Amino acid sequence: MQNIISLAKRRGFIFPGSEIYGGLAGTWDYGPMGVLLKNNVKSRWWRDMVQMRTDIVGVDAAIIMNPRAWEASGHTQAFTDPLVECKLCHRRFRSDKEEQVKEHEQEHGGTTEWTDPKTFNLLVKTYLGVVENNQALAYLRGEITNGAQVNFKNIVNSSRVRVPFGIAQIGKAFRNEITPGNFTFRSIEFEQMEVQFYIKPEEREGERWFEYWKQNRMDWYLGLGMKKENLRFRDHAPDEISHYAKAATDIEYHAPFGWSEFMGIHHRGDWDLKRHQEYSGEDMTYRDPDTGEEFIPWDIETSAGVDRSVLFLLIDAYRQEENRVVLGLHPALAPFQVAVFPLVRNNEMIVKKAQELFGMLQPRFMTDWDDRGNVGKRYYAQDEIGTPFCVTVDHQSLEDGTVTVRDRDTMLQDRVKMEELPKYLQERIYGE
Ligand code: GAP
Repeated sequence: MQNIISLAKRRGFIFPGSEIYGGLAGTWDYGPMGVLLKNNVKSRWWRDMVQMRTDIVGVDAAIIMNPRAWEASGHTQAFTDPLVECKLCHRRFRSDKEEQVKEHEQEHGGTTEWTDPKTFNLLVKTYLGVVENNQALAYLRGEITNGAQVNFKNIVNSSRVRVPFGIAQIGKAFRNEITPGNFTFRSIEFEQMEVQFYIKPEEREGERWFEYWKQNRMDWYLGLGMKKENLRFRDHAPDEISHYAKAATDIEYHAPFGWSEFMGIHHRGDWDLKRHQEYSGEDMTYRDPDTGEEFIPWDIETSAGVDRSVLFLLIDAYRQEENRVVLGLHPALAPFQVAVFPLVRNNEMIVKKAQELFGMLQPRFMTDWDDRGNVGKRYYAQDEIGTPFCVTVDHQSLEDGTVTVRDRDTMLQDRVKMEELPKYLQERIYGE
């Protein structure tokens, strides 16, 4: 874990939030490499969930909602963790995280006194209004789900979707986590990528789609090159299921700090639409235009953390070899897809040719330029941030218009004609 944290800092992936002020626990800032990786994860997800399907449409809802929405969804009541406070040092812990509680007791020589557990609501409060004494309480969304649910009717009425169909969304969520930690794993501000997939309210449909989405999500991570042995399903026990869910399964990742929740697949039934109907007075009944059937659909949700995806992709991709550190990220996710090097920086012709090539690749791929030191050092620096291809312009390039393409994983080199390079890279990065 230390290797990942230090690489993340050193190479500009992830920094502690507001670090020059001593940081703020549970907040993180993404640097130049981190924001590229994170954007690639999100756009790959959007491409596979929205662009490549005809049954899912997108939404981008407001973070701050009418507070009634949070009463309807049960969050003001039930979005809680059990909190205990150490009477010696007043630090707070989740009483259901036994390991952390025990670890803290060790810090006090083996034992301490705890307050009785009390429920602690995770919603982050904020206050709206210009008159200071008369401000209205509102919440930063604790999950992005509600923004999709409250737009169910708007989306049915404004697009051509028919049940079964899904609403996809990516956005920030906020939770007053009692014990943020394990780097970005549990933060107070984070991003989620969710699909609310609405189906006919029938048991067999529910089972079928729940299984479908479980496998679909597992296959997605495997398709991004994550190691099979580091991923597994874990069904929630009845006593840990969220207040809104009929059934829930997590995909877990084998992190250095143990098997940990990666993302969730939740059978939410008609909980959300029915509750919003009740609290808003808006009829949420869906009418099938072909059959005339009327029902309130059930919702099978897939909910993934963007930050957790970035973290686990980094961990999974990190490898130390004899003479180098490599981030073996999927080429489409790597911050830079390609780097261009002039073999030497003091040969005007070579530099010019390399600049020409750079200009050709830059509109198509995230392209880096490096002319410092020797080529070996440049390879080392690119391997460490996961760049799948490095292209060197040398003396031969001036004669026959070919360049050397070096593969990050195999370290093998190919000689490719400059004009064929975009197609060559496109096929290897995106498989198309
Ligand atoms: N809409 C359902 C929902 O929010 P969840 O299991 O509470 O379900 C879904 O959260 C995913 O969001 C988690 O699996 C995780 O990837 C991410 N997530 C939740 N809390 C997080 C936190 N404090 N920090 C980072 N990611 C978090």
